[in-house]
Amino acid sequence: MSQSLVTMSYIVATVLFIFSLSGLSNQETARRGNYYGMLGMAIAIIATALSASVTSYVVLIIALLIGGAIGVKAALKVEMTQMPELVAIMHSLVGMAAVLVGYANFMDSSLSLSGVEKNIHEVEIYVGILIGAVTFSGSVIAFGKLSERISGKPMLLPARHWLNLGLLVAAVFLGRLFLQQAEAGGGTFPLLLMTIIALAFGVHMVMAIGGADMPVVVSMLNSYSGWAAAATGFMLSNDLLIVTGALVGSSGAILSYIMCRAMNRNFISVIAGGFGTASGGEAAVIEGEVQPIDADETAQLLLTAKNIVIIPGYGMAVAQAQHTVNEITKLLRDKGKKVGFGIHPVAGRMPGHMNVLLAEAKVPYDIVYEMDEINEDWDHVDVSIVIGANDIVNPSALDDPNSPIAGMPVLECWKGETTIVLKRSMASGYAGVGNPLFVLENTRMLFGDANATMQAVLKALKG
Ligand code: TAP
Repeated sequence: MSQSLVTMSYIVATVLFIFSLSGLSNQETARRGNYYGMLGMAIAIIATALSASVTSYVVLIIALLIGGAIGVKAALKVEMTQMPELVAIMHSLVGMAAVLVGYANFMDSSLSLSGVEKNIHEVEIYVGILIGAVTFSGSVIAFGKLSERISGKPMLLPARHWLNLGLLVAAVFLGRLFLQQAEAGGGTFPLLLMTIIALAFGVHMVMAIGGADMPVVVSMLNSYSGWAAAATGFMLSNDLLIVTGALVGSSGAILSYIMCRAMNRNFISVIAGGFGTASGGEAAVIEGEVQPIDADETAQLLLTAKNIVIIPGYGMAVAQAQHTVNEITKLLRDKGKKVGFGIHPVAGRMPGHMNVLLAEAKVPYDIVYEMDEINEDWDHVDVSIVIGANDIVNPSALDDPNSPIAGMPVLECWKGETTIVLKRSMASGYAGVGNPLFVLENTRMLFGDANATMQAVLKALKG
């Protein structure tokens, strides 16, 4: 394929990626957005495979088959609840690719650059490996935390801010040394040392972040993986990779900002670590009696209510209760009840997790509301059903300054008339903190797997 045709294909792919991002920003157009993305990626792969930069088709085909087979297997096997871990580990692969491409470029003796061009190329290699290594190790730790292989509690080393600063200064100093030594054909030692420092920084950064602040880390590593891809693009002189990396990098940065705002966190403080830890004394101990309720009583309450709000959380994803929830919603709406869904921005384990589940179950978009919209209207709510949610409905986020989730806005369902909480036990949620909602006077606990209890409620409603 001629170079101009490759460039044309890259422009088309870039435009499709932009359409894809814009489609993904809205539930109704998200499916179309995905198709644009898939088409753009197919064009990008075909154009690159047919371009002059490919020197061995055997290697290319073997790599495509191995990569494709792993991708298909992972996608078929992964449970919806494991999606965030899969995304984290994919980010780590982007980081690793940037590191490997950086070293391959560094060792490539066939490149005959000189003067400023050579310097620029060396800076690209250094920065590419730096971003790649931070992304790689940070994402591996995020994978560990999300899959609960590593404790969600923040690991806070003494003088951690000084440690981070020290690592940053060392990376800058080693960069200077690398450029000096690379002039004379060397530079391996500072490059290797910087890689180790960057790997350590990635581990330290994510280990220091507390459970409830993980959403910000997930979106931040998403952004890093974009910049790592852009750095790879510079090293390989591939314009499409630069543009795609920049798109992912900047959209990930915007998402991180949105997540921080949703959690009332300062972006810099989250990155520097230490959020998710109590700010002073001990978090309050939850005391009081819970009031259980059964499926029949729940159905009765729903039948007498006029205005009902459903708050889904991570437990709905675990129980895969969304289809039963949709059936109940349809039945109640047919009986003339007003039913709405309240979605917290960090409900579940990945951005938009609940919206995806509700869309899969075909819940109409126009009854799915954001947290702020729902929080304005609790006075008119007769019954709210909390399905497998915990941290996002925890009043201590607002009342207890020592709580690890202090300051995070939550869905204030206790302000409605009655709240029914569906969960299996009194266990805490992702942030590991007790929830006083469960012992409030107007709360009833419906214990059991959310799908099983919702099925029982549906049966009672029909009966
Ligand atoms: P969580 O606070 O994690 O609470 C989920 C609750 O669901 C648990 O208390 C659990 O209690 C219950 N549950 C689990 N399986 C269940 C089942 N089969 N049936 C019924 N209940 C079940 O979830 P949330 O309220 O959605 O809050 C999300 C949390 O995850 C926040 O802390 C957030 O910061 C964090 N996080 C979010 C993201 C993103 S981007 N959304 C990423 C990483 C972390 P039982 O065990 O007693 O049943």
